[in-house]
Amino acid sequence: MADTRISTNNLDSFWMPFTANRQFKQEPRLLVSAKDMYYTTSDGRKVLDGTAGLWCVNAGHGRPKIVEAIARQAGELDYAPAFQMGHPKAFELASRLVSLLPSPMDHVFFTNSGSEAVETALKIALAYHRVKGNGSKFRLIGRERGYHGVNFGGISVGGIVTNRKMFGTLLTGVDHIRHTHDLARNAFTRGEPEYGEELADDLERVVLLHDPSTVAAVIVEPVAGSTGVLIPPKGYLQKLRAICDKHDILLIFDEVITGFGRLGTPFATDYFGVMPDMITTAKGISNGTVPMGAVFVQSKIHDAFMTGPEHLIEFFHGYTYSAHPLACAAALATLDTYAEEGLLTAGAMDKDEPGDGKGLGTYWQTALHTLRGMPHVIDVRNIGLVGAIELAPMPGEPTKRAFTAFLKAYEKGVLIRTTGDIIALSPPLMLQEHHIDEIVATLAMVLKDLP
Ligand SMILES: Cc1ncc(COP(=O)(O)O)c(C=O)c1O
Repeated sequence: MADTRISTNNLDSFWMPFTANRQFKQEPRLLVSAKDMYYTTSDGRKVLDGTAGLWCVNAGHGRPKIVEAIARQAGELDYAPAFQMGHPKAFELASRLVSLLPSPMDHVFFTNSGSEAVETALKIALAYHRVKGNGSKFRLIGRERGYHGVNFGGISVGGIVTNRKMFGTLLTGVDHIRHTHDLARNAFTRGEPEYGEELADDLERVVLLHDPSTVAAVIVEPVAGSTGVLIPPKGYLQKLRAICDKHDILLIFDEVITGFGRLGTPFATDYFGVMPDMITTAKGISNGTVPMGAVFVQSKIHDAFMTGPEHLIEFFHGYTYSAHPLACAAALATLDTYAEEGLLTAGAMDKDEPGDGKGLGTYWQTALHTLRGMPHVIDVRNIGLVGAIELAPMPGEPTKRAFTAFLKAYEKGVLIRTTGDIIALSPPLMLQEHHIDEIVATLAMVLKDLP
């Protein structure tokens, strides 16, 4: 007898991630295809992608070169063991990736997601101090409102209460510094906020509390994405770097969102002129097509492991699918597409004539800030091709106002993302001025109608 549970219209079996499952299944939102800047829904509507999927489809959807590369690779080499064996595209990709950053950021460890990149970086940090003979450096420091994926290391250093409170004691030896979001002083800032550099001193406080000899690493997102686009105050990241240098603490930038052009520079490290010791990436590395993550590692860290007998494994860590051939093929074609179309700098501020189509950052900024003064809007902020519109919460019902905005925007044909009462925008970097106009006009209509 046929199993009655198996049906394309049965939405019950799939327990959806980070989703209000019961709400979704009453009114499903299904995307069935995508091309360039637009999704098509199951009821045949076009929806402008205001979020590059989940901050990952930086080159836009269905890009021919990437699609062809994946198809070709599947036929040529579907899989090669990742341990004690290799395949050429993994090495080619690693070289291409490190060439995007200045030396000595010269090595890459591959993972399959941002969460795994974070776990990998945290483990490298701990092991690095140990191989250097500093095994007492075991503490990890994160920041309030930081998001570093969902694995145990990531939620431990992460600073989101809902992602932590259900899961017991988490990693021990972790502490957090204060977040930098300060609307009282910085609301409606364009680019980097003026006030708050001194918040970096909180790192010194936490390090001294535990004693620097116990602290291995600090991890921060240069711009916190998932908790609502929190842009660092001017001078803040430079100060974190100086404090880490002073105490021999590794600085990890989690660039899973900011990597690959999101700020109008290849990486956030370029934007802010601050070089961390490691960079975690994922998402835009393969344009969201085949899961992939990577940790960039400075030579001093990599080289510290390359000691001892040569037949021995130097670092006991890795994934079956590290540098998967399909992901490597996708990432190589993604890098080609970024380079050919200048996408890694497409979101730069326009230094020539605003509106001439070069450096969309200025156009994006001006358009977003027209939403200032709309009902419930308590902040508009932007950097590169990222933006946020923060709404006053409904009394007693936090998150509901922004979630309503999300549903209404989707009905009106624009996909946005909300977190708390913040609307976050991060469109594919291939967008043009008329797409920006469409996003902003739709949001204006949505905001006028919100409860
Ligand atoms: C900064 C940051 N780190 C890590 C992650 C986790 O990445 P993934 O969902 O690929 O595990 C994300 C995802 O949004 C992120 O924004």
